[in-house]
Amino acid sequence: MRTSWAEVTEQISDCRKCRLCETRTNVVPGEGNPAAKLMFVGEGPGQEEDRQGRPFVGRSGELLTSMIHAIGLERSEVYIANVVKCRPPGNRNPEPDEAEACLPYLRAQVALIRPRIVVLLGKVACTYILRENISVMREHGNWYERKGVLFMPTFHPSALLRDPAKKRDAWEDFKKIRDMLRQWKDSGEGV
Ligand code: URA
Repeated sequence: MRTSWAEVTEQISDCRKCRLCETRTNVVPGEGNPAAKLMFVGEGPGQEEDRQGRPFVGRSGELLTSMIHAIGLERSEVYIANVVKCRPPGNRNPEPDEAEACLPYLRAQVALIRPRIVVLLGKVACTYILRENISVMREHGNWYERKGVLFMPTFHPSALLRDPAKKRDAWEDFKKIRDMLRQWKDSGEGV
């Protein structure tokens, strides 16, 4: 049975399926256009996201927002979510059992949004959504098709803040995303 958007959002908001619910301030379900053609998936909320209940609103978020603007879009036009919806304490990586508990929500979001492109920000998103042992360094900018959806690994914005030399590669990835969206638009598919 298909779950509705309201049901998924409610389930996420009340979730107590893993230990992260004990330490969260707010759940961060995701935000943006529920009919977006382009979706971004990060790792999990950080301190500011946990405080506000919104994804990518801290320093990484500022950078992600400017990259979205650089390809001619607004945050409100895309959908932004994370592998885990609650903050891992101290911003550690989510544990595998936490990610597995939370992934059905992300899968339900993708099934309802039906984006054309899902951009995977960093190793954690790439690992849980594409496969284990993926190297973002080697595989960023590649397209992977699954059930009619195009997935692209790219750098997590926090990696770009740590190592600004990677920004050039990240920009090449974002240009590919922009061009793919343009191609669909020009072909009359109305993205
Ligand atoms: N980092 C993430 O992976 N997700 C956020 O929402 C914020 C920072």
